Formats: sequence, structure tokens, C-alpha cells
Amino acid sequence: MSVDRRLLAACDSLTTLSEREALAGLAAGLAPGGTLLEVGTHRGGLAGLFTAAAPACRFFTLDIEDLRTPGAPGLDAAVFFRGDTAAFAAAHPETRLDFVFIDGDHSFSGIRRDLARLAPLLAPDAILAWHDVDVRHPGVFFFVETLRRRGCFTPVCTADRLVAGRLTGDWSRLGAADFAATILAAQPVPPAPACALPPPASRLGADTPGVCIGTGSFGAIVARFSGIDPARFHDSDTAPDDAPAYYLCSYCPDAIIRCLTARGIPQQRLFPIDNAYLGRLVRHDLAARNGRALRALATDALEEELVSRVFVEAAPATLEDWQRSGFLGHFVRLFWAV
Ligand SMILES: C[S@@+](CC[C@H](N)C(=O)[O-])C[C@H]1O[C@@H](n2cnc3c(N)ncnc32)[C@H](O)[C@@H]1O
Repeated sequence: MSVDRRLLAACDSLTTLSEREALAGLAAGLAPGGTLLEVGTHRGGLAGLFTAAAPACRFFTLDIEDLRTPGAPGLDAAVFFRGDTAAFAAAHPETRLDFVFIDGDHSFSGIRRDLARLAPLLAPDAILAWHDVDVRHPGVFFFVETLRRRGCFTPVCTADRLVAGRLTGDWSRLGAADFAATILAAQPVPPAPACALPPPASRLGADTPGVCIGTGSFGAIVARFSGIDPARFHDSDTAPDDAPAYYLCSYCPDAIIRCLTARGIPQQRLFPIDNAYLGRLVRHDLAARNGRALRALATDALEEELVSRVFVEAAPATLEDWQRSGFLGHFVRLFWAV
């Protein structure tokens, strides 16, 4: 069954058209009576695709939140499950999954957890597809890439940030050394975001005067590595007018800059914290505290060992390169969900 390109183009999904075409092709290849699962429903934009491509299959879609757009095409033919993969596996222990599209928690621990929970439900020849397999999502990228490098996963199809294939080995035996080897081999370098203003010359610390702007995940990670009290983090519209400096902890500082300057705060007091600057804080943590804040991000023993192998034991020149390119800050900010 081929799916109309217009239907694919109209999907209200964060996937690209090429990725949708690939997903539709894979779903269309399933035998009647098969079962599909999407992890990460979001607005439900792919329900139309999956139910049209595999009309004789059951389509489950799960999310920890209900963000579905009422009336989205295909949603009435889908079974929505509100909860995570653990709850789904507990509620459907007898289900055999022929196709799983994983697009939920993008952190390294989340990706591992979801696969571990769903593995007992997978049919022997099941297709697994992950979205956001690129360096901008290091948790997903290094997980999938390590499975592939170690022969535990064999891709059958890729499109943009989508990788789909079959498990071909026991991925659960992979350890920190396997994942560390992938990270050290790749050394991918994301472009540092362009900043309109220069970063602060001195290193941010608990006693740095001024306030931080950004109460999201970027702000949370800056708080951990700088030691600045989280109470000194504000939103741009609630920050005090008279702070001597404003440290902008956001991936897109331009909107904050516009808001603060519109409030009459001089540009000279605004300092965007970018990936490279965050990397500087991480390097200081590694040099002065043996990576205490970095180690605290690890969610289990495997991640603790990974942090040691990749960062604590890294040569100073490597860390310098990673900091300058923005990779270190980018990785620390996105590998874990903070
Ligand atoms: C990138 S969006 C999914 C986009 C959707 N697949 C599409 O193509 O339109 C990620 C979704 O995953 C959900 N999510 C985050 N963590 C999750 C988890 N642990 N389990 C299930 N869903 C999760 C979020 O609520 C969000 O709606």
C-alpha cells in the first residue's frame, strides 16, 4: 500500500518528508494483523501516515503527555496510550510489536531505557526506527551508532535523521567502553551558535555579580556547573532592571536580548552563554573538582564509567578542542535530560 504524498506532506509532525516516506514504506511492508508502536505521539501527526500505510495493522501511539490535536487525521483509528514505555509494557505484556518508532525521550538514559523495556515485546524480526539520529541529539546518536558499530543493530533504511533496522545482536551486553569508543571515534563538532555579543571574559562562579536569565534546561545546567544559586536565574520579563550583568542561558539568546534592551537595559551588560562557554565551565569542573558536577549527571554505573573514560581521562588538548568547537558544552547539555 503506498501512501499519497499529499497526505505525507500534510502530516503535522516534526519529521521531514523523506523520513515520512521511509516510515510509510516500512509500515506498508508489515503483514496484516501486525502491531506498530510510536513512542512520542506529540500532536499525533503521524497517526494518519501509519494508519494509511498499514490499515490492516494495529497502531499504538504513546506519550507521557496528551498533546494530541483533536481531529488529526488517523487519530481515531489509533490507540493512544498515556504513559511511558514501562507502563505500556506492563499494560500490554502479551503484545508482539512488529514495528516500533522511537521518538520520545531523547536522552541517552531514556533511549536505553525505552529499548530495554520494549525488547521483551519485540517480534523476532521486528523493525526498530529511531528519529533524531544526528549529533544534535547526542543521546540518540551515540546509542544507535554504538549498536550499529558493535553489530547489534543492522540498518535497513535511513532518511535524514531517521535510522531503521533490526536488532542483530545482544545490545544489552554493551558497556561503557563500547559507547566511549564511539564518542571518541566520532568527535563530531556541531556549529557553535552565533552570539550577537561577546561571552563574559571571566569564569562564572557563585560569587559573580549579576543575574542569569533562563529558567529552562540550559539555565539548570549552567547552575550546576557554575555553582550559581538557582534562585538567581530569572525569566527575561521578571529579571531586575538594575543588575550589573545579565548572563543569558539560552540556546537562542536573540529573543532575550530584544526583550531586555526593550526594557532599557544596556547591551554592554548582556552576556550570552553559548556552548563553548558552557564547555569552559565543564572543563573547570574537570580540572578543579575532578568532574564532580559532570559525574553527578550520570544516571547509573555505565554512565559514570562513560564520563570517566570520555572526559575525566581525556587529554587536555582534546578537551580544549571540544570546548572551543562547542562540542563539550553541546554534549553535556543534551546527552542527559537535565
Ligand atoms: C519529538 S516529539 C514526537 C514527535 C512525533 N513523533 C511526530 O513525529 O510528530 C517527542 C514527544 O515525546 C514525548 N516524550 C518525552 N519523554 C517521553 C517518555 N519518556 N515517554 C514517552 N513520551 C515521551 C514528549 O511529550 C513529546 O510529545
